[in-house]
Amino acid sequence: MADDSIFEALPLKGKPQLDALCARPGDDPVRDGLCKPDAPALTGLAALQKAVGLGFTPDGGNDNPSFALLGHTQSLASRKVSAINPRVIIFMSTNARNPDLVTLAFTRGEGFAELIARDKKTKKLNFYLVRFEQACSAEHKCTPTDRFTVENERAWRNVSVYDDEDLANTIFDCRACHQPGGPKAPKQMLMQEMERPWTHFFDTETEGGAALYDDFKKAHPKDEPLAAIPPNVLVFSDPAALEHSVNVEGFGDAQPHFFDSKTIEGQVKASSKGQPGANDPPGKSTAWNTLYQRHLAGSPFPPAYHDVKVTDASKVSRVAAAYQAFTKGESSSAPDVTDVFLDRAAPELGHTLKTGLDAAGILKAACAGCHNDKLDPSLSRAGFDVTKLASMDKATKERVIARMKLPASSPQHMPPERFRTLTADEIAKVEAELSK
Ligand code: HEC
Ligand code: HEC
Repeated sequence: MADDSIFEALPLKGKPQLDALCARPGDDPVRDGLCKPDAPALTGLAALQKAVGLGFTPDGGNDNPSFALLGHTQSLASRKVSAINPRVIIFMSTNARNPDLVTLAFTRGEGFAELIARDKKTKKLNFYLVRFEQACSAEHKCTPTDRFTVENERAWRNVSVYDDEDLANTIFDCRACHQPGGPKAPKQMLMQEMERPWTHFFDTETEGGAALYDDFKKAHPKDEPLAAIPPNVLVFSDPAALEHSVNVEGFGDAQPHFFDSKTIEGQVKASSKGQPGANDPPGKSTAWNTLYQRHLAGSPFPPAYHDVKVTDASKVSRVAAAYQAFTKGESSSAPDVTDVFLDRAAPELGHTLKTGLDAAGILKAACAGCHNDKLDPSLSRAGFDVTKLASMDKATKERVIARMKLPASSPQHMPPERFRTLTADEIAKVEAELSK
């Protein structure tokens, strides 16, 4: 897998990597938990949570952290997340700015957890990626059972902790999205659906949020924990608390991809009467179209999808039944839970491109997120800047074409498969234009 090769290529891993990271200046709850001499072994997600102060207990009540479940995301995990395999964001709710701010994001199947913590001295945000392997990793034999069930949260091995500096020139670069103003601008927390009804967030008190819970429950038995959150606690997904946290930490007005949930959900509902529960045919929203046009014009990342659900109901039924058969012991393996997306929504989900774009449009939509004019010029990927197509030299154009034509599984293939897939026609169109 491309991910494995990319991590393999980083200079350090495991204990030497942790030692190098801990030797750099910095002071935050992640370092407090992971750098101390008697730091616990990171044997799984629960151990990591505990180490950074975000541990849950079944009867923890208000002492437990807050969390929010997402059924769709434009983050690193965009192609893995749906109501069947939610993204989980865990944090502490505080009334005012939290001096010990730490938030954790986790999605089954990624092979890593993401963390943000505020540095106690510089007051800036530090970003960490905790990569883990499982017994199956060594031989690249991980199955859907290893990746998409509780197995993914335990028996971690060869854990490596990287910070945003380590990852700056990889496709996991946290700053590409969390430092939207470029290297001199502040790093920030992100939340696209910043206001009620928080489209895409699970919430028993919103219509869309309840519909996402319903789909989740089709696959997952009542007694199954998720992201080490005890099953009895899982109903308390709380996007309002995340909104509050992003606000008190000072990032409420700084969202580069704000998604006006109230207006968009209202328009989607008015356009198609089954929404938000039934999402095929897809809904329509003029407010959303404006966001999407902005993306096609070069704004780095696509907006979150307009409908609450991103899934195909018949695929959800099939995958949910297979998942249940596995948890009941009727089948020996779990299904690939990422096989649930609504095919016709792929371009608007950002997984593919809108059809009919010209070469410049293809490059803007597929590359601008990581190759733009706001990059730290010392990064090798700054050699290709999509905003300077008109003045691009021949050698750069050749490198662009060569990268796009590599097999999608190559760690050097562009755009990275994690984010987007182009068709052979789209690649040919870019090649024809850049070869002129
Ligand atoms: C492609 C864009 C993108 C990249 C790259 C990215 N993130 Fe995010 N991240 C997001 C978005 C969007 C959210 C908002 C919640 C969501 O949609 O998952 C988010 C949310 C988070 C959260 C939850 C707290 C918050 O800000 O809402 C954490 C923690 C996080 N990211 C950590 C990281 C780390 C660590 C990295 C680098 C390893 C990283 N992210 C890279 C887009 C990105
Ligand atoms: C998610 C971020 C991301 C996206 C999207 C992305 N790239 Fe990249 N690209 C990188 C990173 C990171 C590197 C540096 C690591 C490497 O060389 O693989 C890179 C390197 C490159 C390079 C080598 C730089 C040079 O000047 O030689 C080229 C060419 C390139 N990308 C082309 C593209 C094209 C074309 C697209 C869109 C079709 C694209 N990339 C989309 C992250 C991205």
